[in-house]
Amino acid sequence: MKDKIHVGIIGFGTVGTGTAKILIENRELIKKRTGIDFILKRIADLDIKRDRGIKVPEGVLTTDAGAVINDPDIDVVVELMGGIHPAKDFMLNAVKNKKHVVTANKALIATEGNEIFAEAEKNGVEVGFEASVAGGIPIIKVLREGLVANNIVAVYGIINGTSNYILTKMTDEKVEFSDALKEAQRLGYAEADPTFDIEGIDTAHKLTILSSLSYGIPLSYNEVYKEGITKITAQDIEFASELGYKIKLLAITKLSNGEIEMRVHPTMIPNEYLISKVDGVFNAVYVEGDAVGSTLYYGRGAGDMPTGSAVVADIVDIARCDNGQKAKGIGYVSADYKIRKMEDIESMYYFRFSAMDQPGVLSKISGILGNYNISIASVIQKGRRLGGSVPLVVLAHTAKERDVLSAVKEIDNLPVVSDKTLFIRVEGKEE
Ligand code: NDP
Ligand code: HSE
Repeated sequence: MKDKIHVGIIGFGTVGTGTAKILIENRELIKKRTGIDFILKRIADLDIKRDRGIKVPEGVLTTDAGAVINDPDIDVVVELMGGIHPAKDFMLNAVKNKKHVVTANKALIATEGNEIFAEAEKNGVEVGFEASVAGGIPIIKVLREGLVANNIVAVYGIINGTSNYILTKMTDEKVEFSDALKEAQRLGYAEADPTFDIEGIDTAHKLTILSSLSYGIPLSYNEVYKEGITKITAQDIEFASELGYKIKLLAITKLSNGEIEMRVHPTMIPNEYLISKVDGVFNAVYVEGDAVGSTLYYGRGAGDMPTGSAVVADIVDIARCDNGQKAKGIGYVSADYKIRKMEDIESMYYFRFSAMDQPGVLSKISGILGNYNISIASVIQKGRRLGGSVPLVVLAHTAKERDVLSAVKEIDNLPVVSDKTLFIRVEGKEE
């Protein structure tokens, strides 16, 4: 095994800065622990004049990513610039130059990872992507190593720090959605395009990776159902609280009757569940294995240092494995799997109807729900606006998504319903 590993970083932004800081400030600690000296040789960024709050040795900074990819001394190239192009080409070129690569870029891994892993295997190098899911939580290691002996029953994750931060601010401090998003951006949590965070796209990228690791399926981003948090109002958060729930953007992958579910959507979670208490930028991933039972992993899901911690862990792991067994990208890939269609899932549901405040409306709505085998668990109606519309909230027992879609379509066509119905899937035990 080499006792010196040279590292090059492309992208000196939030995560690049955290990674560089850890490599520089904890160099001696990591050397003592591993017997390997990790030397930060080059950092490439378009802007090398900006003050990043850390002092890097002379000659490390460059504006040319090629100076990292083509440096014969560099063993590990760390891609932290984000986006698909040119990040993908940079990674593939590094791999073709027989360099190991590490990335935090979940969009790239989820959408182009199959090709990148194949190329890495051809060239006998590693691809580390621990930082791509749940920031500082070592969840990739958990699934690949710690729980390798288990059939995975289900994975539930709060895995987007920005949307969890926004929902928490809206719930606890009654902050407006747009103000909470601005604050998450200022803190460096949000993606370059924050619609990735709030529309569930980033969560779906991460879920793609978790599903592949859990069930040995190819990275299948296009098969993930995704819905973000933009339709959730302060009123829904209040109704949920009154019913004993928190609203979280949840990523779910599980086996249902031999089919794999992969879905991202706002979800009402009972207050007494540990995961409902995961607030702010924190993430949590619940994994159930057939041997281990329930496990839960918690930590900061975004930010410079937590993500840098995961990036450096990958660099160290790769150096340690360099003369050992290769981790082989996403793991085994089975050809025999089926992904469940969203219409086929079953869940409990919260509905917020915009109903005219007049006699007989509830019976019209409940009649349609009944026709589709959706049975009501509880109802809330607040305020009176005779002749106007009021929110009518219904909590329903387990129903089929297909029936819910049909019922909502029919209800939204009633003359007594003035706006589109919002529904949120509900986790927990049936009352
Ligand atoms: P930033 O925008 O803060 O940093 C990216 C940096 O890369 C910027 O400084 C950018 O320069 C630079 N860059 C862009 N193009 C090039 C290029 N061609 N050559 C060299 N440098 C380039 O992003 P983050 O650090 O937040 O995110 C980086 C990656 O990590 C993304 O994939 C993101 O999804 C992922 N990630 C982010 C987390 C976070 O908490 N922020 C957590 C986990 C993962 P310029 O600004 O001038 O364009
Ligand atoms: N934008 C992402 C988030 C960064 O908020 O979770 C971490 O992947």
